[in-house]
Amino acid sequence: MKVLFYSAQKYDEKSFTLMNSGYGYELSFLEAHLNPETAKLAQGYDVISAFVNDDLSAATLEALKNSGVRLIAMRCAGYNNIDLEAAKRLDLELVRVPEYSPYAVAEHSAALVLGLNRKTHKAYNRVRENNFRLAGLQGFDLHGKTIGIIGCGKIGRVAVDIFKGFGMQVLVCDPFLTEEIPGVKKKCLDELLSNSDIISLYCPLTKETKHLINDDAIKKMRDGVMLINTSRGALVDTRAVIRGLKSGKIAYLGIDVYEEEAGIFFEDHTEAALDDDVLARLMTFPNVLITGHQAFFTKEALAEIAKVSLENIKAFSSTSIDDTYMTRKVNF
Ligand code: NAI
Repeated sequence: MKVLFYSAQKYDEKSFTLMNSGYGYELSFLEAHLNPETAKLAQGYDVISAFVNDDLSAATLEALKNSGVRLIAMRCAGYNNIDLEAAKRLDLELVRVPEYSPYAVAEHSAALVLGLNRKTHKAYNRVRENNFRLAGLQGFDLHGKTIGIIGCGKIGRVAVDIFKGFGMQVLVCDPFLTEEIPGVKKKCLDELLSNSDIISLYCPLTKETKHLINDDAIKKMRDGVMLINTSRGALVDTRAVIRGLKSGKIAYLGIDVYEEEAGIFFEDHTEAALDDDVLARLMTFPNVLITGHQAFFTKEALAEIAKVSLENIKAFSSTSIDDTYMTRKVNF
């Protein structure tokens, strides 16, 4: 089985090559992103592996099909970047890694909360310049404050426990949550928005959740709210958030994802001017902390991504399809 990796970084190559010793597939790694042009490079490959910012539009999928690709193995959980109708029409099989480390992402969201609150990134720079003054570094106790968790699936559930550990009141909004979580109050979105000191997003990007956080939602939030997004950039209307930051309604913003991150994140642009005025504006605020889609990036998560991806390929090529494979298949 020949597998071509798009958007592959050195760490992907390392983790997949190591894991592949138990599988023996023929792996090739491309740094190039997947798009209608680069899809043609998949000629002769049975499987391609793609990532969060690859372009899996109809044109790309058609080019992959014409190249002879049969399976698209996403090495991530989200699949909002795939034209599912086109994949169905072209009879392309899609698999993903629905869970690799919910701890990695939930813990990173907590890192953003703590960093923004206690300004450790600013303290780090100050101290290195022999400036030990504390002015401007004041934070607040998380203990006793209220956090609103939007989306309580695998990652949101871990986040609930983390923030409960800080002694916070936890509110949850998830229309599909049936289970009762001890010590956690279920709320509708409006109630959560108006009663939370910190709001953190853990839901997928769908047609329904696009710009869930918009001008109207921001208006309902408490003054001085902290907003955290480690899920998908387009859950948040960035321009509306900028208006919220300018008015002071949003006092802290921590994001690991950005709606226009494709072509910017995961790459080094040190030598180039940033060609995105909205992101550039966001970076002018002292109370904004941005990381470049690194929430998933732990040793354990990378190993699991490689293992599950290769298991997916193995199951695809075997005659008997088991239940686990079915849970990792993207159904149309
Ligand atoms: P999951 O599928 O286990 O949980 C998502 C939850 O969101 C579900 O419980 C679902 O009922 C809920 N939900 C759906 N629509 C909602 C709405 N309108 N309002 C509130 N809740 C809603 O997914 P998981 O594994 O917890 O991942 C969540 C998201 O995190 C992924 O979709 C992905 O976009 C993002 N992610 C980000 C990573 C990063 O490195 N920054 C890495 C991995 C995932």
